Amino acid sequence: MVETGSPRAGTGAPVLVRPAARSGNAHTINPKEHEPIMESVNVAIIYYSATGTVHAMAHAAAEGAEKAGAQVRVRKVAETAPEQAIAANPAWGKHVEESADVVQVSHDDLEWADAVLFGTPTRFGNPSSQLRAFIDTTGPLWFAGKLADKVYSAFTASNTAHGGQESTILALSNTFYHWGGIIVPPGYTDPIQFQSGNPYGASHAGGAEAPNDVALQAVQYQARRVAETAAALKAGRANS
Ligand SMILES: Cc1cc2nc3c(=O)[nH]c(=O)nc-3n(C[C@H](O)[C@H](O)[C@H](O)COP(=O)(O)O)c2cc1C
Repeated sequence: MVETGSPRAGTGAPVLVRPAARSGNAHTINPKEHEPIMESVNVAIIYYSATGTVHAMAHAAAEGAEKAGAQVRVRKVAETAPEQAIAANPAWGKHVEESADVVQVSHDDLEWADAVLFGTPTRFGNPSSQLRAFIDTTGPLWFAGKLADKVYSAFTASNTAHGGQESTILALSNTFYHWGGIIVPPGYTDPIQFQSGNPYGASHAGGAEAPNDVALQAVQYQARRVAETAAALKAGRANS
């Protein structure tokens, strides 16, 4: 277990303090106990959103990771749908305009990141084809071993609670396994999880309606947990 303190003034880096060793457990005894470990972690939030709900969750996730002291990049994937399809749905067209200033993801963002949260709407129980299209460009990074050992997590939005949120997140996890990633789900590790009710990843149910406070708090918490886990891993690797 690792406790985090407030970000160190001026650095944005999280302060990690080793918890007291439990008696009788040799693995937790550490001569540097209570010594602060400074580790700055990079968190990329990579998402697709047609009508804005996942976009809102991605920005809430950024807030959660930033509060944990991480450096954060929020990146959208490229739109692949034909213009006629976008034009036929006013909410979709409006969101394309509203999110014009969000930087489009590149492979550099994946290389830069110690941890990545992926966000996608549920599409027939699966991630959106737009997010999959980006993931399918990552072969060269995977081949060079550059996607391994990072922390990965995913969140989603759908029309209904039983409309495939879990299968969408689990489908993304298949990719994380191939990458050799460390999957960090929220589980039921915080009181907000007992309200949101999805241990696989934060999820909004309600279609194009704005995500409610519980969904936003859940994704903030998930991002914080991801950032803290990445920082703990980085600190542990530096000390090993
Ligand atoms: C092609 C398509 C497939 C969808 N499939 C599902 C689905 O399987 N289950 C569900 O509950 N909602 C489904 N939805 C609804 C979206 O997941 C939902 O509106 C989501 O909140 C949209 O997120 P966004 O606003 O970030 O684009 C689907 C929407 C589209 C356009």
